[in-house]
Amino acid sequence: MNSRGKAILEQDPEQEEKIITISEKSPEEKLYESLKKYELPDYLLYTGSGGANNWLKLDGAKMFPVARQLKVMLEENVSSIVRFIPACMSLVSVGVGSGEKERILLEELIKKNRTEKPASEKVSIRYYPVDINSHFVDLALEEVKDLPVEKKGIVAFIEDMPLLKKHWHLPVLFCILGNTFCNYEPEFILQLVHENLEQGDLFFFDANLLPTQESGEETQAARKSILGTYASRENVLFNMYPLLQYGMAPEDFDFEILLAQVDSRIGTLCRTRKSLNILKDAEIRIGTETIDFKEGDVIRMGFTYKYTYGQILAFLDICGFELLKAFLSEDRTNVMILAKKRI
Ligand SMILES: C[S@@+](CC[C@H](N)C(=O)[O-])C[C@H]1O[C@@H](n2cnc3c(N)ncnc32)[C@H](O)[C@@H]1O
Repeated sequence: MNSRGKAILEQDPEQEEKIITISEKSPEEKLYESLKKYELPDYLLYTGSGGANNWLKLDGAKMFPVARQLKVMLEENVSSIVRFIPACMSLVSVGVGSGEKERILLEELIKKNRTEKPASEKVSIRYYPVDINSHFVDLALEEVKDLPVEKKGIVAFIEDMPLLKKHWHLPVLFCILGNTFCNYEPEFILQLVHENLEQGDLFFFDANLLPTQESGEETQAARKSILGTYASRENVLFNMYPLLQYGMAPEDFDFEILLAQVDSRIGTLCRTRKSLNILKDAEIRIGTETIDFKEGDVIRMGFTYKYTYGQILAFLDICGFELLKAFLSEDRTNVMILAKKRI
């Protein structure tokens, strides 16, 4: 059981290569319940075909290069990464989106498999794209349809990892890509992954970082650049979409984003703070339900942590992971990490 309702595993009769974990509540019901509490958690921005299209559009936008830069970095380093990954591993990727990054990894793993394993030992690689949005799982499966991999898509929340792990073959390379790691509380996500991986599994994730600054001016410049990206028109529209979709007008509210300092076990961390601020009394209609917002109401949204490289390493250490290899961009703004459970 989790905050989004109890998950039940069910086979999709239409498509045998996809498993659906159905929550008791539809995305619309969840949106209604959240908005009634003046909350709009980020996962609700990604639901339905609208949410899938919005993310793909944002990911392609010039002003929002966060996940795209991480893809370029993966392309440039994939052969070095795969050197650390045994050829027999299954690939599980949670929050898979379009699955383009996973294709890059799979192509390289297949190449490695072909060169390293004699014909008699060949087993095809198993691939499990996972996302809360069924459209993304379909896209990710389609993305690799010409590759010789055994595929099973899973529609599920990462928070249901104990349930969804029953579907994959060990050992796994467990991936969280596209800066998705930074949308969770660090100790929550690392403990969840740690508890559900076995010895022999690997954990691979990426993050867009706050570069370590030498001077106050550099700190200011880094913060300005982060705010510029997150306050871009494209990202603002992405965040406003649910309210616009259900009947509010752009002049009824505005989107606010700040960079806040938050305390943690390892010291002060930098985190975005987002909200939708209601500017005039307005109504939202979701199915048969309506919610009345009043001028001055504030709807709290999700967040993204902006860690320094050192902070990520410190969290991995306290949560029981051993770093196998880190790929850090020259300007220290992007990182990819390969880790395993410490024995
Ligand atoms: C920032 S996008 C990244 C997509 C993709 N990995 C990439 O690199 O382009 C986050 C993805 O995570 C999915 N997602 C959001 N919350 C989730 C959750 N709780 N469990 C699983 N997937 C989730 C969204 O549907 C979306 O596809």
